[in-house]
Amino acid sequence: MAATAEVLQRTAPLYDRVRRVIPPIEWPVFAEDVDAIIALKRRRNAVVLAHNYQTPEIFHCVADLVGDSLALARMAARTDAEVIVLAGVHFMAETAKLLNPDKTVLIPDLEAGCSLAESITAADVRLMRQRYPGVPIVTYVNTSAAVKAESDICCTSGNARAVVESLGAERVIMLPDAYLARNVAAETDVEIIAWSGHCEVHERFTPAEIRQLREDHPGIVVLAHPECPPEVVAEADYSGSTAGMTDYVGAHKPPRVVLLTECSMSDNVAVAHPDVDFIRPCNLCPHMKRITLGNIRQALADNRHVVTIDPAVTPRARQAVERMLAV
Ligand code: 13P
Ligand code: SF4
Repeated sequence: MAATAEVLQRTAPLYDRVRRVIPPIEWPVFAEDVDAIIALKRRRNAVVLAHNYQTPEIFHCVADLVGDSLALARMAARTDAEVIVLAGVHFMAETAKLLNPDKTVLIPDLEAGCSLAESITAADVRLMRQRYPGVPIVTYVNTSAAVKAESDICCTSGNARAVVESLGAERVIMLPDAYLARNVAAETDVEIIAWSGHCEVHERFTPAEIRQLREDHPGIVVLAHPECPPEVVAEADYSGSTAGMTDYVGAHKPPRVVLLTECSMSDNVAVAHPDVDFIRPCNLCPHMKRITLGNIRQALADNRHVVTIDPAVTPRARQAVERMLAV
């Protein structure tokens, strides 16, 4: 539905935030939903938590809190709102629910999954524990609550090395991202035993792509997410979580930069850095892209989809997340 003049007027300050990445002709399509979501949030005492990969009209116009997986988990633990809408993927919504058992946590699309979360089951983790008795298990937050429940502690890409080293062990098992495990192994003396999961978005970047970028854009600064293959990380100028990449751009203000990660990252970061030239070979995450203004609005209007977690796994999964937050 096209927005009325009144709605366009009310949402004009929000459009100002994103005018560099959303053409004026597209805004009336978004404005109606943005306006309705703001009213629904007020009515329901709700907050929208949005991951850095959400599109700019979500990230900059309806989200109350934004960040990487670690920041979202921390924010979810602190919010006073009665309802949390997680604009991100399912494991993020589960983490929010684990930390807020008494609140309503909504995910706008139940199919918003993750190739890493799909790569491992709770039974796989139990087998790893049998195979390596006494070796602590660090589980990436990009997993189901059932998998978290079988592990000793969680980590994100923002704290993986710190979590691994916090255990004081010579060897740890790190599940399920094989590349994150190898990238952490390159930074620490702790021996890492890995699983075979991959992120379908980051596994596609190659060192050849970086070399081509450097040839085409001399002086370009290359930032890579640690879910990228180690050969890619080795050729990048910096590797860090999505929040790490945002902070890097803010701190160094490189004249020209490429973020080897999901496509919306560049749009979201570019909004605050008009002087930085973002070169944009990127890969879309089809799961993150399932979340839209339309289904966020429906989630709030119809109270769907309510995230629930099997009570049999909840306490142990929560403990693994809380241990991580204490590191
Ligand atoms: P971050 O924790 O770095 O935001 O990463 C989450 C994710 O899904 C990356 O693909
Ligand atoms: Fe999962 Fe990769 Fe998508 Fe992140 S980008 S949600 S790790 S598939």
